[in-house]
Amino acid sequence: MGTIEDVKERIDIVDLVSQYVALKKAGRGYTALCPFHSERTASFHVDPSRQTWHCFGACGTGGDIFRFIMKKDGVEFRDALHTLAERAGVALDQRRDPVEDAHRARLYEINEAAAAFFHSTLLTSDAARAYLDERRLADSSVERFQLGYAPNSWEALLQHLAARGFDAKDVRNAGLAVEGDRGAYDRFRHRLMFPIRDDRGRIAGFGGRMLPGDALGAGDVHAKYVNTAQSPIFDKGSLLYALDLAKDAIRAQGAVIVEGYMDAIAAHEHGFANVVASMGTALTERQVALLKRYTRSLTLALDADAAGSEATLRGVEVVAGAVDRESTPQVDWRGVIRQQETLAADIRVLTMPAGRDPDETIRAEPDRWRALVAEARPVLDHLFESAASRHDLSSPRERSDVAAQLLPLVAAVGDRVVQSHYLQRLARIVQVDEQTLRLDLRRARSAATPRRAASTGPGELDIPRVVNPVVHDAREEFCLALLFRYPELRAEGLDMTPELFGQSENRALFDAWIEWSDEGESFEASLTPDLRPQFERVVNLDLPSFDDDALVRALRSTIGRIEQQRLRLAKRASVAVISDLAVAGGAQIAERALAAWRSGGHDARGPADDEADLAAAFVEDMEAGLKVHQRVLEQRRGTGHPAR
Ligand code: UTP
Ligand code: MN
Repeated sequence: MGTIEDVKERIDIVDLVSQYVALKKAGRGYTALCPFHSERTASFHVDPSRQTWHCFGACGTGGDIFRFIMKKDGVEFRDALHTLAERAGVALDQRRDPVEDAHRARLYEINEAAAAFFHSTLLTSDAARAYLDERRLADSSVERFQLGYAPNSWEALLQHLAARGFDAKDVRNAGLAVEGDRGAYDRFRHRLMFPIRDDRGRIAGFGGRMLPGDALGAGDVHAKYVNTAQSPIFDKGSLLYALDLAKDAIRAQGAVIVEGYMDAIAAHEHGFANVVASMGTALTERQVALLKRYTRSLTLALDADAAGSEATLRGVEVVAGAVDRESTPQVDWRGVIRQQETLAADIRVLTMPAGRDPDETIRAEPDRWRALVAEARPVLDHLFESAASRHDLSSPRERSDVAAQLLPLVAAVGDRVVQSHYLQRLARIVQVDEQTLRLDLRRARSAATPRRAASTGPGELDIPRVVNPVVHDAREEFCLALLFRYPELRAEGLDMTPELFGQSENRALFDAWIEWSDEGESFEASLTPDLRPQFERVVNLDLPSFDDDALVRALRSTIGRIEQQRLRLAKRASVAVISDLAVAGGAQIAERALAAWRSGGHDARGPADDEADLAAAFVEDMEAGLKVHQRVLEQRRGTGHPAR
């Protein structure tokens, strides 16, 4: 049996959660005030029969024991597994796959050897040394960051490494060589090289900057920066440049995140040791999770364009996956705000003066930089201020634009109290009454969580059932089995939201599958050992045979069923909360709210949408009802403070 199952079997979700939260019995489960956002009515629910939890309020998320710890501690699945395995007294299966471990170790070795080579050739390159002088880089930085030079050659690195026993295949696997028609050639030619280290200081890959003068042409010669190709140890979205050097300072002072290598180096050179670089892409959840090990306070340094532009404000697409890019980075504000919620972090925005970047500012005016960091604004305040300053708020049309821009961001705020604050503020700015905005908000929120219509599928699907004391979610596993066994579903699968998977091992498998690139090693080989047992279970499920059409329908209808089931659970949990409150007093109000939910469905749209709306209305009406209820009780007790 796999360790994930061992742990699940030994830790009861009610036991676990009740260590952190005061649970109250309600119906078949338990409720509590949600530990992940502040609220006054209990929308957090634990279901012992399924061994799951769910917040039906602002968070709108849930999962199993692992997801609870992940969310509570802001850690990744693997860390949660460790914590809980220890608690359960389960010795984690430390038997790693020796072949894969050896492979990874070799890639790190190659990178070390390559970094040493690039560093040594720096002395011989006039172009590179002149460039470093021009950029005013201190010698100590060149040493500390082990900067280097990739010669203007097709095979300097390959030959150097071959002499040390690494063949072209290894070098290619490390993402440092490219396979061409006539064999492998060096990926980096005539570039300034930045080794990118992980938090433990191991070199995971490189960034190479173009230098004045022509490089031997092929591939990305014109890109300003080229990176190591994605490899088993290099994934840009999981790394932060300079984190290995910044950890201690971040622990003490919080993290400042800049975009570029040059920015981070300048910062460290001038004693700003808590600075890391996101390397140009929008900050990923994994990067934030890395930082969360050391701090809750994150300051994003953005250039004036990115911080203020409308394009950025609207740029709500996630840039994840974009490894090398040519245009200005777009910040995914919705993503940032959601991360702020899920990771309970304090995220601030530092806006650079127009035309300046951190590198120049730090070198020219270190005190100015210090002040900019101190003046960084909470992310939503920043967005409000920048939207307001770019528009003429006396014009109704522009006010309407501002509302359209800001509302989706307010909708992304998980905490109801905080959300309410910004909603009021928005109402004031755009001069629309709050109730109207609140209605739009509900719409914005449901648009933010993509939902699929349950297709009219091929009748009942034969979903394999599992009999096991550990709860397996047959639908989730069926979905995964389809994805893993039918490569033609890849595109469809890339559109699916990871939120669909409530069981952590399924979610982790799905995440791994999304990140896996189908060009290199097999998906199975890319998995860490702890996920293999579940992978094997899933991939070996008995599936009926499908023709192409039925395949897509089967996937979609299973997704629909998972969502429907979640809505049913939401209702059941809400009813439990309400009936519990009815006992506590103020029964009519609670009953009215309950009746309102039951008779919902006033909106005549498709059945799936209907059901989703009903559930949304359900929870919201419940909260509205309960707020009134609470106010009545408070007034009766004469204790004052009406609910905000
Ligand atoms: P910048 O264009 O701001 O570069 O991109 P920079 O680091 O300030 O470099 P200089 O000052 O122009 O020399 C910020 C970061 O985005 C990534 C790199 O990590 C870069 O440091 N990037 C940029 C790429 O990965 N590819 C690109 O083509 C451009
Ligand atoms: Mn720069």
